[in-house]
Amino acid sequence: MTVTFDEVTQVFHLSNQKMSYIMEIKEPGFLLQVYYGKKISRFDHRGDYPEVDRSSFSPNPPGWKNREFSLDTALQEIPGQGTSDYRESLFEIVYPDGSSATSFVYQSHHIYQGKPKLAGLPATYVDDKEEAETLEIVMVDPFRQVEAILVYTIYRWRSVLTKSVRYRNLGEVTICLNRGMSACVDFDDDNFEMIQLPGAWAREKHIERQSIGTGIKILDSKRGASSVTQQPFMALVRPETDEHQGEAYGFHFIYSGNFSIRTEVDPFCQTRVLVGINPSHFSWQLEPLEMFQTPEVVLVYSNEGLNGMSQTFHHLYRERLARGKFQYQQRPILINNWESTYFDFDETKLIELAESSAELGIELLVLDDGWFGKRNDDKSSLGDWYVNQQKLPRGLASLAKAINDKGVKFGLWFEPEMISEDSDLFRQHPDWHLHVPGLPSSQGRDQHILDVSREDVRDYLFVTMVKLLNKAPIEYIKWDMNRNMTEIYSLGRPPQQQQETAHRYILGLYDLLERLTNKYPDILFENCSGGAGRYDPGMVYYMPQSWASDNTDAIERIKIQYGTSLVFPPIMSCAHLSESPNHQVGRLTSFESRSAVAMSGNFGVMMDVTQKTASERKSISKVISFYKQHRHLIQFGEFYRLLSPFEHNDGAWLFVSENQDHALFFYFEILSQATKPFRRVKLAGLDPDAEYLVENVIRTGEELMNYGLYVNYEMQHDFSSKVIDIRRSDSDTL
Ligand code: DGJ
Repeated sequence: MTVTFDEVTQVFHLSNQKMSYIMEIKEPGFLLQVYYGKKISRFDHRGDYPEVDRSSFSPNPPGWKNREFSLDTALQEIPGQGTSDYRESLFEIVYPDGSSATSFVYQSHHIYQGKPKLAGLPATYVDDKEEAETLEIVMVDPFRQVEAILVYTIYRWRSVLTKSVRYRNLGEVTICLNRGMSACVDFDDDNFEMIQLPGAWAREKHIERQSIGTGIKILDSKRGASSVTQQPFMALVRPETDEHQGEAYGFHFIYSGNFSIRTEVDPFCQTRVLVGINPSHFSWQLEPLEMFQTPEVVLVYSNEGLNGMSQTFHHLYRERLARGKFQYQQRPILINNWESTYFDFDETKLIELAESSAELGIELLVLDDGWFGKRNDDKSSLGDWYVNQQKLPRGLASLAKAINDKGVKFGLWFEPEMISEDSDLFRQHPDWHLHVPGLPSSQGRDQHILDVSREDVRDYLFVTMVKLLNKAPIEYIKWDMNRNMTEIYSLGRPPQQQQETAHRYILGLYDLLERLTNKYPDILFENCSGGAGRYDPGMVYYMPQSWASDNTDAIERIKIQYGTSLVFPPIMSCAHLSESPNHQVGRLTSFESRSAVAMSGNFGVMMDVTQKTASERKSISKVISFYKQHRHLIQFGEFYRLLSPFEHNDGAWLFVSENQDHALFFYFEILSQATKPFRRVKLAGLDPDAEYLVENVIRTGEELMNYGLYVNYEMQHDFSSKVIDIRRSDSDTL
């Protein structure tokens, strides 16, 4: 791995075994992109991008002697605004005189081993300096007293480049950063299709693939959270790219608030990708000498198809984004009482649930919503984080002890960022939520959002949670968040800083999470936002697992989990075995299919196991013990998508152990058909030369990957599934 700068050619080359990213400086200092893609071992000249006059209406930079160069057609690293590039800009700065034209030129650079932290923000990291190299390029506008430091880190063993920017005011007057995005990549062609992960509540991360036409396409969130509507992710892929081969460029933003991913194809069939904080609802007062740090964008390059891209994300997020004690630990099998009791539970019920769960091999009981204040429905008490005496008269500590005595750990649900109007906290602090004084405030699920951009509010939440966590043996927290922002205004800031509130909120949230997770390293935190409303890489930094969706229907989950796996590894996506008929969609599904889908992630249970018959309990217990036997493989193995449920009436995926000795294959047929076509599925990731035992037959890895397995011929019901355990026949795991 190297980051080099050739003084003669003025070319920067960032490369590792898999990829190259090349830029060059052009007089008087414009930083231009040259190449991003498969590794080029030697690149010892300047880029050959032709210089011919095709600018017509596109002006040339001031003082330029010919018409053969225009910023409007150049491939740029830091496209500015108001200085002849009419495409989308990376930034917009407004000066006290009301003007905004800014053009950055190269001033200096610095290359060093390792990767810097990002002040107050989650980011990928290294454990050892040798793992990555960083390039910082200082860009200045000589007429404007501003600088932008472009920060690039390339990992040695991963096809990963990260980018962020620090914008700094070098002058003596306040300037206004109206747009401060994190990364721009300009490609010189448009031979791409775009993959995105849109969704809605209970229908998260559905894969959509479409061609990119001329013009601008925006994927974004203006909801104050990354949201279910869009994941802060986009991939550009070649038309021929599929799961197993072809080029894919993945862009993922490590941020949990408003974001924007803009893809623009210009008249010359060049494609620009911009990623960053959404300029809408954003503007930052940059005081003299103040710096604004943008969040980080992860860029993954794969020439091994979408699985190659996803596996790079999976490893990076497991190994260098998630942190703490649980990062490499197998996750406990939990039972959550939400779908079995909703708000209607008491101590006796929970202890029975714990006892019954322990007998089945469940390791942790999570008490969900309704344990605090006077909360018996979703209309009150958020903010009153003290125990509901009517339901739990002996308190949380006693409940937790009783549950522990049954042999399971105890976990608790919180929704710390929210406040109900009907709560003691609201009565004491009617000004602590986001709202515009004098205007009515919108409610969502009958709740407001606490203004965690304010330090006093954060401190209150921290102290309140600490009191609780110190009192009872709580070993897991489900951190929920069930509405999006409106009337975004903070009483903690002057009027001219109100457009900073949405971002300051996210910085405040990160600060609170950092403090809590540092103070309680032994608590396993699970991220939730009505399912996956804020399941993004920013949250992964603080919480190593997330509730992938409130939809627990096995059939809907096939798509949700398939889509989620595009960027997040299965260990991070919690999936629960739930009742049939399903509570969200009313569908009846077999126990086998429900367990197969739930077992394909971070497995848990969401049913009232106390009400099950002996034979149902036997089945649950068998599934739990099967999962335990395969837990390491599922949570830490390589995940391959094989057959897309978005394209077919069936879907398939596979887990393969690191040493390729062991694999677990899952196949799902959605609707049954008469006289149906046979489905032969080719596996992936096995050792071609090894022999594997598959359903009592020995087959070579080569055969399994090229010929595959016939899977659906015996299936005769809707919503069928098949799980096949595959072992290397000469391994001791057999
Ligand atoms: C939304 C979550 O996604 C559910 O699992 C549950 O915790 C409810 N909130 C409780 O209000």
